[in-house]
Amino acid sequence: MSSVTVWFIRCALIYFLVAILLGLHMTVAGPVYPVMPVHVHFNLLGWMSMMVFGVGYHILPRFSGKPLWSDRLSYVQLWTANIGLLGMAAGWYLKSSGSGTPVLVVFSVVEALSILFFVINMFKTIKITPPPAKPAAVPVKK
Ligand code: HEM
Ligand code: HEM
Repeated sequence: MSSVTVWFIRCALIYFLVAILLGLHMTVAGPVYPVMPVHVHFNLLGWMSMMVFGVGYHILPRFSGKPLWSDRLSYVQLWTANIGLLGMAAGWYLKSSGSGTPVLVVFSVVEALSILFFVINMFKTIKITPPPAKPAAVPVKK
């Protein structure tokens, strides 16, 4: 696996653990702000999306029989996805103490850009390939 795949999967697993701890906290404390949006987005943008990014970078070029369009963009996406998500979490915590909306907006845009980078890279990588030819029938000896 490439290092971008390994790092996306490592990050996804870490966000999953943190999100589950926040979920357990809310099971006891109720759906409190800002734990609720952080739990939701660590699960959906951290765990689920990053797992899809990591697996996607590995598998989609292979399915297409074509190299990934841009390795460099995939690393930029790894960084922006993490900076964006952690910044969004910080924004929600700051917002709960009265400030933080600009922080949330800036990092939300960073996160949205990271998604755009993935979409561009994948659109440029995937292509329609014909299905593999059927194996020729082997004559049976009598
Ligand atoms: C041990 C695992 C988990 C625990 C204990 C847990 C716990 C919670 C709790 C207590 C809430 C607040 C519910 C409420 O009273 O409104 C919540 C909300 C939520 N959780 Fe989890 N959760 C877990 C795993 C997950 C996973 C794996 C996902 C997604 C992949 C997820 C997605 C969500 C979403 C989207 C909401 C918000 C629902 C809404 O907007 O009302 N959770 N979770
Ligand atoms: C760039 C990406 C994203 C941004 C900037 C974003 C931003 C936000 C914001 C600002 C809220 C309101 C939180 C609050 O103040 O309570 C929210 C709520 C929510 N978002 Fe996202 N989101 C993004 C991606 C996603 C994705 C990909 C999913 C699902 C796959 C998702 C699912 C949800 C859900 C379920 C809620 C309701 C949470 C709650 O009940 O507290 N979001 N999002």
